[in-house]
Amino acid sequence: MSENKTGRIFSIAIDGPSGAGKSSAAREVAKRLGAIYLDTGAMYRAMALYMLRQGVDPHDAAEVAARAGNANIEVAYENGGQKMLLDGEDVSTAIRENAVSAAASAVSAVPEVRRLLVMRQQQIALTQSVVMDGRDIGTKVLPRAELKVFLTASPEARAMRRFLELKSKGQDVPLDQLTREMAQRDHDDSTRAASPLKAADDAVLIDSSDMTLEQVIDRICGLAAAALEGKS
Ligand code: DC
Repeated sequence: MSENKTGRIFSIAIDGPSGAGKSSAAREVAKRLGAIYLDTGAMYRAMALYMLRQGVDPHDAAEVAARAGNANIEVAYENGGQKMLLDGEDVSTAIRENAVSAAASAVSAVPEVRRLLVMRQQQIALTQSVVMDGRDIGTKVLPRAELKVFLTASPEARAMRRFLELKSKGQDVPLDQLTREMAQRDHDDSTRAASPLKAADDAVLIDSSDMTLEQVIDRICGLAAAALEGKS
């Protein structure tokens, strides 16, 4: 069980569209609060990679649903960092390939995939303090989280961040292609029937377009301190 500053188990939910800076912020907030960080998008990405490797079309919802239970997806922690394991293999880098992003969006719309992964996410939060990021954490996975944040940014700022992130990893994807793909995924994630991306009614909205990562982290830590006050 992870130690944390309140001595009690707590959960922080950070939702929002891709490129808003959720994972960078959530990872550091977790570190400062002594909680573990769970990147739920990485779990959907691992599921997508599994389907691609099995030769399953990620848009074939019936086939994805039928096979989802066979994917052996595990989250491991090493030196404070999260590692995604697929059948025991570390796929943390492979799941970041641009081709996996579109496939992850498709498989994440399949209710059976969500049922399996949400169950896993809730189990993890049961025994340890977590900062979890995703699309449905505040609305579905952890509806009783002590703090819910909806982190967003303008489409331009988000596409530029993803462009720089991929570039730093040696992947040269044109900015206009990323902007188009991101708009498509935003649309698909927000309009799907199963757990669409939306802010929980009690979430605090943060627009990070003109904020540095440090400012976002400080703001969330400030909100967390206020939310956890009196809980120790
Ligand atoms: O955050 P990300 O880009 O790594 O997420 C990959 C895909 O998974 C994205 O299309 C949204 C989906 N996702 C989801 O539906 N629910 C979550 N809790 C996290 C991610």
